[in-house]
Amino acid sequence: MSQSRVTGAEGMETTYGFKAVGGAEEKQARVNEVFHRVAERYDLMNDLMSAGLHRVWKSAMVNWLAPSKHKGWKFLDVAGGTGDIAFRIVEASRGEAQGVVLDINGSMLAVGAERAAKLKLSDNLTFVEGNAQSLGLPDASFDAYTIAFGIRNVPRIDLALEEAYRVLKPGGRFLCLEFSEVDMPILDKVYEAWSFKAIPAIGKAVANDRESYEYLVESIRRFPNQANFEAAIRKAGFERVTHRNFSGGIAALHSGWKL
Ligand SMILES: C[S@@+](CC[C@H](N)C(=O)[O-])C[C@H]1O[C@@H](n2cnc3c(N)ncnc32)[C@H](O)[C@@H]1O
Repeated sequence: MSQSRVTGAEGMETTYGFKAVGGAEEKQARVNEVFHRVAERYDLMNDLMSAGLHRVWKSAMVNWLAPSKHKGWKFLDVAGGTGDIAFRIVEASRGEAQGVVLDINGSMLAVGAERAAKLKLSDNLTFVEGNAQSLGLPDASFDAYTIAFGIRNVPRIDLALEEAYRVLKPGGRFLCLEFSEVDMPILDKVYEAWSFKAIPAIGKAVANDRESYEYLVESIRRFPNQANFEAAIRKAGFERVTHRNFSGGIAALHSGWKL
């Protein structure tokens, strides 16, 4: 199986990390097993695997979004998992934003809903089990669509992008945070060693689960690079598509508008 990146929105549905799978359904089933297994330790592992950097990247994403502080502004956070992005958006809106946190995995959502209750954000958020490829939500109903570290797990990225476009209102904003291609050779070597050696070992030590973390690392290496992902976003209909790299391209934030 190829370990190289796919070059467009197609091709992720036949691979689970570096392994070949029969198709989108099998891939999704295996991804779902991963997130059922990791849900309880997901937040702790995120901190350990990224040395806390995911917090900085997520805050930068919400800064770029600059949520409205007016009542009635609505966002959809897809693959929202344990709620990190949604909580930051509500806080940045000074409590005015209303959001839907959608994820295919009930275990991740359960952790998110519990955290929302502790943070007293339950009135702003609705947790919905659903699939990014077929959202089951009305057309033109959200001011912003966000997805963080989620889209590379979705088998059909093209369908997810089309759905993002469909549910956004005209003038709506698409923002996607995802691991991407490192553009500094020395950093790339260090990052490669950290990804393929340290992260599965931490997964084994902390969660007794090497395999899930091997998948997460391998799926990062398969995901289209910054330029190819920009092209896929444009193909779905978005305009003014741009991206910003974080930490030398370890993560990238892509932005587009439905105009
Ligand atoms: C790495 S977690 C990201 C969670 C959260 N957005 C964050 O940044 O911490 C990826 C999430 O994608 C979800 N996911 C995978 N496939 C999905 C799909 N087809 N539709 C919706 N969510 C999906 C998983 O269940 C998981 O919660």
